Amino acid sequence: MIRSQVMGVGSALPRRVLTNAELALMVDTSDEWIVQRTGIKQRHIASEDETTASLGEAAARAALAHAGLSPDDIDLIILATSTPNNTFPATSVEIQQRLGMRHGYAFDLQAVCSGFVYAVSVADLHIRGGMAKRVLVIGAETFSRILDWSDRTTCVLFGDGAGAIVLEAAETEGTTADRGILASALRSDGTHKDKLFVDGGPSTTGTVGHLRMEGREVFKHAVGMITDVVTATLSAGGVSVDDLDWFVPHQANLRIIDASAKKMGIAPSKVVATVSDHGNTSAASVPLALSVAVADGRIRKGDLVLIEAMGGGFTWGAVLLRW
Ligand code: UT7
Repeated sequence: MIRSQVMGVGSALPRRVLTNAELALMVDTSDEWIVQRTGIKQRHIASEDETTASLGEAAARAALAHAGLSPDDIDLIILATSTPNNTFPATSVEIQQRLGMRHGYAFDLQAVCSGFVYAVSVADLHIRGGMAKRVLVIGAETFSRILDWSDRTTCVLFGDGAGAIVLEAAETEGTTADRGILASALRSDGTHKDKLFVDGGPSTTGTVGHLRMEGREVFKHAVGMITDVVTATLSAGGVSVDDLDWFVPHQANLRIIDASAKKMGIAPSKVVATVSDHGNTSAASVPLALSVAVADGRIRKGDLVLIEAMGGGFTWGAVLLRW
């Protein structure tokens, strides 16, 4: 059986760090409120010369180096982002050009905070369908460009960054002991589209717009949606929650992460949380967290890892993989 195996992981963060204390000088908020309600202590913010394409390129290069591969080895680039450099062409194509790749194909995928989980699952289908042998899956965002910096209910929550993995086709036994992607589940429900959205776009206002969110409403749905899709993914993969070595959730809010893990009976020691350092980086949050946990030696080859995300749309999803 062909499976998509992770060969390398990497990430990139903007140089500038913005602390809660600095935010408290900009809007009516406090370090105490932000930490208590979200677990966020700081976030990275892109400077003028740092874009979704440049951060995505840096994360891609780091993942390729970790895999011991070069851009020549890649057939497909999927970039998960809601903050592309331009309305078109796809920013993935710009990253392809920046990497010096003149072969293969590249496209962007837009599922907001669930983008990376969606992209991994789509990459897996391209690999198992025989379209591509090696895929670069990137999550890169510059949400700072679409924030309303006078709105304290949103501007304290988000940050910029990028993460990437390289997936490669490998022949396996077809058991749960295989390395690679074992199961995925994706969901969306557009009836919730007004709870987390950007109030502009090419076909409506002709402007980029700003992020708007009914935070409490999103929070209310998050834990139920996450646990539902995680349970479905574990069941499709033929494993139990106790088999998991690592739970790597979307990093929106530490309270959502803790409540989801608790509801599913996942021990806190198995949860990778990086939201305190990065804030919510949307599609970049899961690959950034993976990159941190691999670099510090927590996630090792052969570990059973569950990634999940939930965000605007709503969209949500999960992928079970053996690292
Ligand atoms: O990645 C996509 C998914 N997004 C999410 O998962 C976000 C989900 N939502 C959340 O994480 C939380 O709902 C928030 C962190 C956004 C807000 O936390 P909350 O506990 O739901 O707070 P709240 O919205 O109920 O607001 C509580 C109070 C309000 O004041 P009143 O009405 O009680 O007087 C807000 O006006 O906190 C006030 N508030 C703030 N105070 C200080 C809202 N934002 C701030 C702020 N600083 N930045």
